[in-house]
Amino acid sequence: MTSRTPLTAHTLVKTYGSAGTGTTALAGVDLSIAPGESVAIMGPSGSGKTTLLHCLAGVLPATSGQVVWAGQDLSSMSERARTGLRRTDFGFVFQSGQLLPELPADENAALPLMLAGTPRAQATDTARRWLAYLGLGGMESRRPGELSGGQAQRVAIARALVGSPGVVFADEPTGALDQQTGHEVLGVLTEATRATGAALVIVTHDPGVARWCSRTVHMRDGRIVSEDRTPAAQPATPPTQPAAPATQSAPQAAPAQPGAPVAPGPWPAPPPAPTAPYGPNGTSAVGGTNLPDGVTVVPR
Ligand SMILES: Nc1ncnc2c1ncn2[C@@H]1O[C@H](COP(=O)(O)OP(=O)(O)OP(=O)(O)O)[C@@H](O)[C@H]1O
Ligand SMILES: [Mg+2]
Repeated sequence: MTSRTPLTAHTLVKTYGSAGTGTTALAGVDLSIAPGESVAIMGPSGSGKTTLLHCLAGVLPATSGQVVWAGQDLSSMSERARTGLRRTDFGFVFQSGQLLPELPADENAALPLMLAGTPRAQATDTARRWLAYLGLGGMESRRPGELSGGQAQRVAIARALVGSPGVVFADEPTGALDQQTGHEVLGVLTEATRATGAALVIVTHDPGVARWCSRTVHMRDGRIVSEDRTPAAQPATPPTQPAAPATQSAPQAAPAQPGAPVAPGPWPAPPPAPTAPYGPNGTSAVGGTNLPDGVTVVPR
């Protein structure tokens, strides 16, 4: 569910172990992530990046402070309610995909929908459209072991986006890839997330990440010590003069007949050459605007 609501952290503290002898991983973090914003979190190893991501996503309970999403303080929710929220409102991309090795790509990508109760056929159909959009048309039946690292991360991106989350969290999604493939994946991740209107919070050690994100937050010793905004990623159009298209609903593909192949649109297109300077003002990383059914392009 893409939601036009900010995600905010207020004086967030996280201590592992008992007070006094434990490790303070977050020492009072304040952060607000606007709807549709892409925020890179950078900092030395051990500075608290993963801990912050997990607290923001409701994976870890904070020791004190608040994380507010859609008007709710995550820490005041039951674990069961937080689990439900993570399934419907958040998407996740991890360093090594964490795909289920025995499932084909389409079923891996469809998992969040199936967990949310969407019938299997409908879920895999939507997942296939996402895979095609991300340049993996024809690879739907492959298991993770039959995909390259970059392809597997695209499946993970499809899985993160298939449920139209409000926020996508990515923890070093390119950490296991070579630089060129990593940049391709970053381009695909940021552009596809932007197209859905979801916010993106991405932990990375890649100093080039600012090209794809609207803001970079730097952490040290559990605190945010500085942040940079990326001028190129700011909304370029004043509200009185919306970019065309102002709000473009995804073209609806013809409903698939049972057993029929997914209607090919002008896409899938392979991602552009890895040397392309894609990013907020660069060329398209995913190729076009023909998003999977039900996905609305929200211009920023
Ligand atoms: N489960 C845990 N139990 C105890 N201490 C932990 C735990 N997880 C993390 N820490 C500690 O909390 C601090 C922050 O860890 P965190 O994993 O958030 O860092 P990071 O910035 O993501 O580092 P990296 O870049 O190496 O992934 C570190 O000192 C780490 O040792
Ligand atoms: Mg980490």
